[in-house]
Amino acid sequence: MPSIPETPETPETPEIVDCGEFDEATMNLFLAPGPNPYQDTEEFLFDCEMRADEMPRFVRRSLLEFQVRSNSDGILLIRGLPIDPGLYRIPTPPNAERSPQKTTFVSERCLAMIGSRLGHLVSYIQEKNGDLFQNLAPVKGTEHVQVSTGSQTRLQFHRETVFHPYPPEFLLLFCLRPDHDHMAETTYASVAHALPLLSEAHQDLLFQPLYRTGIDYSFGNRDRTQQSDRILPVLYGRRNDPFLNYDEDLMTATTPEAEEALTALREAIAQVYRGIKLDTGDLLCIDNRRTVHGRSSFVPRYDGRDRWLQRSFVVRDLGLSAVDRLPGERIIRTTFE
Ligand SMILES: [Fe+2]
Repeated sequence: MPSIPETPETPETPEIVDCGEFDEATMNLFLAPGPNPYQDTEEFLFDCEMRADEMPRFVRRSLLEFQVRSNSDGILLIRGLPIDPGLYRIPTPPNAERSPQKTTFVSERCLAMIGSRLGHLVSYIQEKNGDLFQNLAPVKGTEHVQVSTGSQTRLQFHRETVFHPYPPEFLLLFCLRPDHDHMAETTYASVAHALPLLSEAHQDLLFQPLYRTGIDYSFGNRDRTQQSDRILPVLYGRRNDPFLNYDEDLMTATTPEAEEALTALREAIAQVYRGIKLDTGDLLCIDNRRTVHGRSSFVPRYDGRDRWLQRSFVVRDLGLSAVDRLPGERIIRTTFE
């Protein structure tokens, strides 16, 4: 099997919304104190949605277009958002848990305000206790594991929670701090770019329910043996503009021919993927139905200055997961035993 190069072959600029020139009133939408996102969650989300209505028109227009039409990369990069005052003094949380030193919620507000224009924020009970705003940082001992706390191994391409009945339509990554060496790239590959590299025969196979996917490590599949009982097609929707179910690490084919098609897709992704080095104040929106994502390897130092992102998940329709949520809560409690 060919190895995937660490540097993409086709670097290209994605669609960028530059927020670096916000006026004072707009900055205040993000900076002015409000409800506590961890204690008064629903109030916080409503407050953020109302604030987002007052964001400049060009930001709302870009988010609306991305929500409705997406784009060929399946990502939208919002650059130069406000950050928490004094953030540079706060250490990266060593266990990728909530930071007790972070007592302002500007980053959470960025995620909730931007997310509110794409849909509704949700979380999963198995991940970070169901926090809506999840800290991603390198954690000692997981350097070579396929999880968000890994570092020294490339995080393989995946759609977020392929195995789950209620996966997010969008994934948001907000960068609070890049890695020391500015090495870490968030990698992404869209089905729009990969599809033309696949033969008709391989596309036919990928459109059929011939694929099985495992349960994520973070959902309790520690020994990597737990398989989802769902048999899925990898491609679905419109033949010329399909959606993509894919997990490089966890997906297997049920027939030798289907395996060949999956390998062809893996190779296509290796050719078309691109990478972005996120910087402080960058918020990356990923269309989780069209684009798989991963991360290059990087070297953590565990000195309180390591790479620190916050992540949120967005669904278009809260009603779909209502059966697995408690009233008034955003935490999806589907079990996988
Ligand atoms: Fe992910």
